[in-house]
Amino acid sequence: MRTYLDHNATTSLRPQAKAALETALTAGNPSSVHREGQRARAMVEAARGQVAAALGVSQAEISFGSGATEAANHAVFAAGRLGRTRVVRSATEHAAVNAAARNHGRENEICPVDGQGRIDLVRLEALLGDRGEETLVAVMAANNETGVLQPISDIVTLARAAGAWVLVDAVQMIGRLPFDAGELDIDMVSLSAHKLGGPKGVGALYIRDALKAGAMISGGGQEHGRRGGTENVAGVAGFGAAVEAAIQTRDEEAARQRILRDRLEATLRSLAPDVVIFGEKTDRLPNTCAFSIPGRRAETLVIALDLEGVAVRVRPAPRARPGLAMYSAPWGWTLKPPWAPFASAWGGRAPTTISIILDRHWQMSWDSRAGPPLGLPAICS
Ligand SMILES: Cc1ncc(COP(=O)(O)O)c(C=O)c1O
Repeated sequence: MRTYLDHNATTSLRPQAKAALETALTAGNPSSVHREGQRARAMVEAARGQVAAALGVSQAEISFGSGATEAANHAVFAAGRLGRTRVVRSATEHAAVNAAARNHGRENEICPVDGQGRIDLVRLEALLGDRGEETLVAVMAANNETGVLQPISDIVTLARAAGAWVLVDAVQMIGRLPFDAGELDIDMVSLSAHKLGGPKGVGALYIRDALKAGAMISGGGQEHGRRGGTENVAGVAGFGAAVEAAIQTRDEEAARQRILRDRLEATLRSLAPDVVIFGEKTDRLPNTCAFSIPGRRAETLVIALDLEGVAVRVRPAPRARPGLAMYSAPWGWTLKPPWAPFASAWGGRAPTTISIILDRHWQMSWDSRAGPPLGLPAICS
């Protein structure tokens, strides 16, 4: 039997999403005026309502697309067309936002993060300076590898004071912890369905209506003129059902997973006292544990776990993939979080990181007499 513990990469389809998807597979074209078309339109609009409700924004401000990568590209592209050609992003953004910023932003700045992986607000304020009105700040709500949460409310306050707009990549946040884009006064949010139990290849972009952003992909005027092309009706319906189900069980799942994650970390620490758990001193997603054990090659550990039937995420050490582990900061090449604060402990060389990422399926079935779970001795000894 396999134990899959890489749920920030993707997680399985929720039954509600599967049912909605199957029903919508035979739907018509939502742009057609006949009954078949109207039925498909009703499904798309119901899903739009479900996603809007999850974000605390109005339905007309949501457009569907192929995922969070497309949404981030659309957001940066739209901001640029509206005069926000400078992108300031945190040093820990996902490739989706980084590439969008490089491709569609005319100027790019990276704001460093602190030892726990949280954006440095003093540096952010300095980067905004008096150039807020030409700037889009792009930041993730929760990191996919460490689970570290960014102080979105503080970031929005700084951006507003400077006249900048804010794009939040909320892919890992929605359905895991409370997040209200309306209340937080965010301008743009990118989402992906498969991270919360929806189908792959569908996502959503929230853009504040007042921004009057146009399309990146033009066509038949679908999605309120913001994304041309016939909608992926089944995918969208599955997304809507998944987001609604995720929100319904969010708080109890968060509490349950936090207990399991904390027990897992306590076990790790008892087996390997020098383990480094990234972001443990700040707010994190309740399902995520990213760690390194000095002197242990994580690739070997991951293979050991895989042989025991456990799939976890591994992030290669910088020596293996320098481009991914370093970033060019104004003060020179710098180790990327989560390693940066620990670089000296490893003699300047960052270790490989393992992330164990739980989800709603995961039960903690071991008790203390049965010993630690998940082949942990295999990775710690
Ligand atoms: C934080 C974050 N942002 C964006 C994305 C991109 O999502 P997708 O590949 O579904 O477009 C991912 C997926 O790994 C992610 O984890």
